[in-house]
Amino acid sequence: MTNILITRRVPQVGVRLLKEAGFEPDIIETDLPIARDELLKRVSAKSYQAILTTMSEKVDDEFLDVAGKDLKIVANFAVGYNNIDVEACKSRGVRVSNTPGVLSEATADQAFALLLAAARRVVEGHKLVESGTWEGWTPTQLLGRDLSGQTLGIIGMGRIGQEMAKRSRGFDMRLIYHNRSRDEEAEKNLGAVYKSLDELLAESDFISVHTPLNAETEHLLCYEQFKKMKKTAIIINTARGPIIHEKALVKALQEKWIWAAGLDVFEFEPKVTEELLTMPNVVLAPHLGSATEGTRDAMISLAATAIIKVLKGETPSNLVA
Ligand code: DGY
Repeated sequence: MTNILITRRVPQVGVRLLKEAGFEPDIIETDLPIARDELLKRVSAKSYQAILTTMSEKVDDEFLDVAGKDLKIVANFAVGYNNIDVEACKSRGVRVSNTPGVLSEATADQAFALLLAAARRVVEGHKLVESGTWEGWTPTQLLGRDLSGQTLGIIGMGRIGQEMAKRSRGFDMRLIYHNRSRDEEAEKNLGAVYKSLDELLAESDFISVHTPLNAETEHLLCYEQFKKMKKTAIIINTARGPIIHEKALVKALQEKWIWAAGLDVFEFEPKVTEELLTMPNVVLAPHLGSATEGTRDAMISLAATAIIKVLKGETPSNLVA
């Protein structure tokens, strides 16, 4: 008997794929994550060969110990896998998969939506009209920032960063990027110019974060970095919250070191630093980067297929370990 656990209610297509392959997965039928001790109980209830996780479940030594020695794969329903201790999985011979490629467009769309909303004060305008207090057009009401001819700085020129870059072409923006290493192909295809992080911070009118979260990128943007940005800069984060030191961001916004922010992710998600909730120049979204029907279906299909392949002794292409 092959046992598979899915840690959350997920799009049906993933469950269907597993059933068609002859498996009968156990599903924790909740939309929000269950408490850790409850989760560990569920993980230890059977000897699972595969566990399909979301980015909220921390897969560490404790989790793997509880899961036991039959576990062959942890399939993460996300492209980011900072919730998983990959080395701990490797040392136990547990494969790890993620969902690359299928959410790049949707996530870049969300980043661009936040960029436009922050630049053109869409939420402030909406609230004004909604309040019933709008008295009519004025020459200086809710003036925003132009995109055309302005510089977009992309931090992390992976798949999502490149999709963001593509979108900026349509808005006639100048494009610069910072990455762990230069990507000459992207430079040629997208007309992006490589910059050191400090140069990017100083030259960008818009900064969009698309780097994975790891020990090197945690708090990549802190007080010192916000100080280097233009006073008119707008920062967008659709990657992972802890890449930005949220207290430093609050100070930068309060003291007008920068102009605005568009945030889809938060340092202490789902908790949001209180000051951000009341700032008019901050646009907030509840981690919706990949939240389209088509994208979530594609993500769950990749995760389910990785499980099926590993359990059949095959090697899926989306393994990170
Ligand atoms: C991811 O895939 O990493 C997203 O943040 C989850 O939607």
